Amino acid sequence: TSSDIDRYFDALIRDIPDFPKPGVLFKDITPLLADHDAFTATVQALAAAGRDESGATVVDKVIGMEARGFILAAPVALALGVGFVPVRKAGKLPSATYAVSYELEYAQATLEMHTDALEAGDRVLLVDDVLATGGTAAATQKLVGYAGATVQALAVLMELSFLHGREVLGQTPLLALRTL
Ligand code: PRP
Repeated sequence: TSSDIDRYFDALIRDIPDFPKPGVLFKDITPLLADHDAFTATVQALAAAGRDESGATVVDKVIGMEARGFILAAPVALALGVGFVPVRKAGKLPSATYAVSYELEYAQATLEMHTDALEAGDRVLLVDDVLATGGTAAATQKLVGYAGATVQALAVLMELSFLHGREVLGQTPLLALRTL
């Protein structure tokens, strides 16, 4: 239930000040991942974004974005009974890829996905730990579009609403288990 999720998040996501750099308050989810009941409840809650009201799975694939997205997206894919697709940082995937570059604060980032990872018409659920500026999610949406597939929804543990990532998602529904 949502109150269970709230309790787990309160107890098992810890704030780490000044990581990875001064002034940043890092949300560390490793205690939550280490707790079987909390991890199970979190995966089930994220998977709801890939089901209809009757509980039927309405997506063909689940995408996780490197690296923390992988940890959450793979069990969500299994919970939904569909396959998992990784979206990775540049140079990590071995076969032919689509690539999308986007601006970070002081740099550029590139994300890639195998060109044969999705079929045209596939409905895809994106899963990540955090939605911050939305750069990662927007780039991943583009990769899905290059494959002729569509993003059904984005599911995250935490939305940092003060960074307005939701605004770059367009019409894509967002499930955020917690909004900060
Ligand atoms: C973090 C997080 C999201 C992304 C969110 O990943 O896991 O993927 O940033 O930020 P955005 O909405 O501003 O794009 P990071 O790039 O730190 O990668 P990691 O999981 O490999 O550490």
